[in-house]
Amino acid sequence: MNSTPKRYLITAALPYANGPLHIGHLAGVYVPADVYVRFLKELGRDVIWICGSDEHGVPITIRAQKEGCTPQQVVDKYHTLIKKSFEDFGIEFSIYSRTSNPTHYKTSQDFFLKLFEKGEFIEQEADQYYDPEANQFLADRYITGTCPHCQNPNAYGDQCERCGTSLNATDLINPKSAISGVKPILKKTKHWYLPLDKYQSFLEDWILKQHPEWKTNVLGQCRSWFDAGLHPRAVSRDLPWGVPVPLPNAEGKVLYVWFDAPIGYISATKELTPEWEMYWKSPDTKMVHFIGKDNIVFHCIVFPSMLHAHGEFILPDNVPANEFLNLEGEKLSTSRNWAVWLHEYIEDFPGKQDVLRYVLLANLPETKDNDFTWKDFQARNNSELVGILGNFFNRAMVLSEKYFDGKVPIKNNLDPEEIDYLAQILKQREAIIEAIENYRFRDALKEYMQLARLGNKYLAEREPWKIIKSDPQRVATIVYVALQLAASLSILGRPFLPFTAKKMLERTQH
Ligand code: 2FM
Ligand code: ZN
Repeated sequence: MNSTPKRYLITAALPYANGPLHIGHLAGVYVPADVYVRFLKELGRDVIWICGSDEHGVPITIRAQKEGCTPQQVVDKYHTLIKKSFEDFGIEFSIYSRTSNPTHYKTSQDFFLKLFEKGEFIEQEADQYYDPEANQFLADRYITGTCPHCQNPNAYGDQCERCGTSLNATDLINPKSAISGVKPILKKTKHWYLPLDKYQSFLEDWILKQHPEWKTNVLGQCRSWFDAGLHPRAVSRDLPWGVPVPLPNAEGKVLYVWFDAPIGYISATKELTPEWEMYWKSPDTKMVHFIGKDNIVFHCIVFPSMLHAHGEFILPDNVPANEFLNLEGEKLSTSRNWAVWLHEYIEDFPGKQDVLRYVLLANLPETKDNDFTWKDFQARNNSELVGILGNFFNRAMVLSEKYFDGKVPIKNNLDPEEIDYLAQILKQREAIIEAIENYRFRDALKEYMQLARLGNKYLAEREPWKIIKSDPQRVATIVYVALQLAASLSILGRPFLPFTAKKMLERTQH
């Protein structure tokens, strides 16, 4: 899609409501998506931004068992906490919904039925692991064992978190139940499978031929799935928690969380606007999914297959997935409590949300995993936010307050260099837009900061404080130019640093 789209539908991965948010969530998905959406809005585009809590799946029921409460209590607690953290950090969705709500049950069940009625599913009985003590099938994370690829002894039934390989429970070496620790037995059970193999050539054509511009990390993962060959995937589970399979004789069966969760984007749009179909069904809409790298297969292969099989929906124009952020050289981990939790950061650094947004943007894991360190946090705050941006903005304001009563002075003759400085505002604006439209948020931030660097250079060269007595007219021009740069920084900064930019703009206006 090259010309300006008529409207945008932006989604951000629905976080599991099984724990609080940490800096990895912000860096991987929500801060870049927020910058993207805010920019589109600044440009006057029609854009909606969809998110919500992912409240089904084994991560939720395992957390409930750990905390000794019900899955509903778990999702209620974390949905509230997560929603508040987003608000605290200025992450402004058009709607923040949740997959436990009735609209979502209906939407995901209708979606399933449509595929069922079209004959898209394969219905099949297969042997699956079962815990004879807990009397429960062991779906996904309920089973652990040794990864056959990297020998990680704590791989899950659906994925090995160490090497990232997607697994079937029966691939695991020495499987054991995560509920009771016993060796599971195999038991027959019926499920519905989405025949991904049937859609492979369609997907290959769509991704590899029509979207060569996607990020290389995303294309790389898609290619390796295609090279290995796609296989049918079960879209149901035997679990006590989830959206019930809407068929007779399907007691105890729920939709697989990765079937219902992306449909959550559609349900939330329905809740947001009666015009939801215009966003989801018109080729004039540009849909973009912001996600982390562990979600690539679901957003590039599984969900598009579902949308394609359904037949009424558009496909995403891009899926700009990020890699992972580490903390002080180690992988972030909720279970090992190795994270900077957003609700704790806000308590420790009240009012400093933009410092974190800035440092995360500067270190986004856009092309490879990246590291967050407190030393870098401090250095970037002191030397960049305070030393470059704050310093220039403050000096420009103080000069106008001191010499011109806080007003914009009338400019006199601009010299050629000053004409260039002013022209640079538009050039930086274009460079920022170009970077953001191509999902290069680190570069966009650099271009923004370049404008503040120019402001510092300009004032250092002109030294207006030295000539205020001898040449006040010249100083009026210098302060005029500095104020143009400062005002532009307050406007162009809104998507990156919404709280700071608001304060800057207020200061330019009184
Ligand atoms: O990885 C996760 O945290 C998932 N809950 C993301 C779901 S994205 C979408 F499909 F809903
Ligand atoms: Zn592994």
